Amino acid sequence: MLFQIKQLLLHYREIHTETLVSSSHLRRWKEVNKLFPCETSDVLHCESVDECLQPFRLSVSTLQSVSTRLKKDMIRGLGKHTHHRAPVKMLPTFVRATPDGTEKGDFLALDLGGTNFRVLHVRILEDEQRVVKMDSQICAIPQEIMLGHGEKLFDHIAACLAEFLDSHELKGQTLPLGFTFSFPCEQLDIDKSVLIRWTKGFNCSGVEGEDVVRLLREAIHRRGDYDIGSVAMVNDTVGTMMSCGYRDQSCEIGMIIGTGTNACYMEEMRNVKRVEGEDGRMCINTEWGGFGDDGSLRDIQTDFDLVVDKTSLNPGIHTYEKMISGMYLGEIARLVLVKLTEDKLLFDGQVSDALQTPGRFETRFISEIEDTGLENTQRILTELDLNWSLGDVRLVWLVCDTISTRSAQLCAAALATIANRIRNNRGLDHLKTTVGVDGTVFKKHPNFSQQLQATVRLLAPRCDITFLVSEDGSGKGAAMVTAVAQVMCFLDQINK
Ligand code: GLC
Repeated sequence: MLFQIKQLLLHYREIHTETLVSSSHLRRWKEVNKLFPCETSDVLHCESVDECLQPFRLSVSTLQSVSTRLKKDMIRGLGKHTHHRAPVKMLPTFVRATPDGTEKGDFLALDLGGTNFRVLHVRILEDEQRVVKMDSQICAIPQEIMLGHGEKLFDHIAACLAEFLDSHELKGQTLPLGFTFSFPCEQLDIDKSVLIRWTKGFNCSGVEGEDVVRLLREAIHRRGDYDIGSVAMVNDTVGTMMSCGYRDQSCEIGMIIGTGTNACYMEEMRNVKRVEGEDGRMCINTEWGGFGDDGSLRDIQTDFDLVVDKTSLNPGIHTYEKMISGMYLGEIARLVLVKLTEDKLLFDGQVSDALQTPGRFETRFISEIEDTGLENTQRILTELDLNWSLGDVRLVWLVCDTISTRSAQLCAAALATIANRIRNNRGLDHLKTTVGVDGTVFKKHPNFSQQLQATVRLLAPRCDITFLVSEDGSGKGAAMVTAVAQVMCFLDQINK
């Protein structure tokens, strides 16, 4: 028996030396083995399960190849004539500078991108170089609004804002507003932004192809009881980069790994072919979630990824996001668990109704299970009406770990591509930079960030990357963008 466990561990080590797993990972696997003792029959099961999980395991050379493909797609996205068909949109944001510490003032911020919508009142204190959240309020967005007509969505947003201004006695002031709108938008200017398409759980009619700032202003005018000042539109990645940039001025990448995934970074203007001007830099919203939408990742998509895509609200769109982000990881895990049960490798071959139900295996379960809490796993499996054995518990851990590891590694491949690009752009032998990060998957998963960092080090060995976790980043960052935009606009006027 002991011999078999050793064999299995050796086998696991072999696979993972090849597929890039850190020593901490093996240590955790050993912990799991201690916690959930192994029966002889389990060893055989483990091997069959491992075989089924093989397509999720990516070798270093595959990750390098993914990075090379993304690099090419980023160039296509930036090009004037190649952009319209590029799956990685590389959207100019009109943010031309990161904060320099001189910004100040009071701002409103709106944050829309998940199931909740937030309104914030933010104050930037120049003397203390701090962004302070004065007040904030969360408004839920009911499913029927997420999938209904756009006018209803913007009326709802305007109503939440009115309620906030009322209760904080701000209605008389006309404050500048930063609008974090976390969907792919073609930004025509800092206050003009056309939605390309909805992603994540939204699908409101009449908004795609329209200027979102105009829709917001119209909704506010329809009410007629208050007004807002200048508006700056921001993607959540940009907000995150900007709010972290206030704390650390070498922050020039913003990354989100939450419900969706995406990143932005400061690109040289000479490479942003769709915007006039050669000097300086502009922040580019990569929309890396769309990587693979032209089929370029077909070789690494598993059958489970294909099902997740097919049954999603937007088949064929945001392929990379569907392999990485919180909206989809739980569902991938559920599909794998169903398959293993049907193959009689789990739960005595008995699939419960709960496990059969799409969406029932939540992404947060993956984090809880991987925390190696025996009780957590048992509770979750019991809640899902599954008849589990200790062997099952260990295998469920293995499934979760494999799926979250792939997510972290794919994310790392994309981040390494950006870091390598910045280094090349600047002709540097070595780049030292900071990434502002936000999102529940990055923040809540017990070892996602470790895994991601280890992989980035391998794929971008000449880049020294510091990760700065953002707190309230998209809201505060929207205020920062508005403040920086005001300073830039003021400078433009002086220079005219
Ligand atoms: C989706 C959106 C993108 C956003 C990301 C993270 O990928 O398309 O704009 O940044 O989710 O919220």
